Amino acid sequence: MPLVNAKEMLTKAKAGQYAVGQFNINNLEWTKAILLTAQENNSPVILGVSEGAGKYMCGYKTIVGMVNGMIEELNITVPVALHLDHGSYDGAKACIEAGFSSVMFDGSHYSIEENIAKTTELVGICNELGLSLEAEVGSIGGEEDGVVGAGECADPDECKMIADLGITMLAAGIGNIHGKYPENWAGLSFDTLDAIQQKTGDMPLVLHGGTGIPADMIKKAISLGVSKINVNTECQLSFAEATRKYIEDGKDLQGKGFDPRKLLAPGFEAIKATVKEKMELFGSIDKA
Ligand code: 13P
Repeated sequence: MPLVNAKEMLTKAKAGQYAVGQFNINNLEWTKAILLTAQENNSPVILGVSEGAGKYMCGYKTIVGMVNGMIEELNITVPVALHLDHGSYDGAKACIEAGFSSVMFDGSHYSIEENIAKTTELVGICNELGLSLEAEVGSIGGEEDGVVGAGECADPDECKMIADLGITMLAAGIGNIHGKYPENWAGLSFDTLDAIQQKTGDMPLVLHGGTGIPADMIKKAISLGVSKINVNTECQLSFAEATRKYIEDGKDLQGKGFDPRKLLAPGFEAIKATVKEKMELFGSIDKA
């Protein structure tokens, strides 16, 4: 199946009270691991690409070519959306041109007026091309690719204003943070999430910073309207741990253990295990 936008999979998720995972990709092994895991578990999936990862992978056109090629060559039949994560206005336009099926415009650091103006323009472009658009209100805490947020809670009235512009999904800060959560993290603000869902109705809500959020909080967030959950750091940690073990065990020094196809295999399997675990927790298995 060619790339799809994220609208149908998220509408179904919201109605069915589960969430679709957005797993960020960094290279070929990452992409292959996520696509194969989605196919094996009959789960819809969203591949996330940050602007930094986009540069690392030689640009958006390279990524579109790689993902489309893999979908065909690996016979991936589950719905897959290729989505820009925390895009700038220019980044969103570049991804649209390159062939992404979905983009996020993160205008949370602008004034609400400017966020509305820029989001409105992108709604028009995405609607015309049949792409999905994620917008953001209230910055997500922590640091991702140099974008630093304080982990604020979004204003539910501002969420309603942005949701009404015709976007597909809304990311709203509810105390979530990218990367590992600090010891003294206060947890997700379910009062904020509840208020946002009451104002925005059917709008699928997006939970960023999926790494390290306890399972009970994930389940509660889904029950309050979260239909898309983003995970990045957790796959990086599993990959790094498995790769470190391979090298510390001296396996790269045995036979042809230095061959990248062998050296990267444990990390690849570790990403697959993490993605499967998240799909189980989010409830997206067999929802393709
Ligand atoms: P984590 O790196 O904390 O999993 O967050 C991912 C994310 O929100 C991508 O937008």
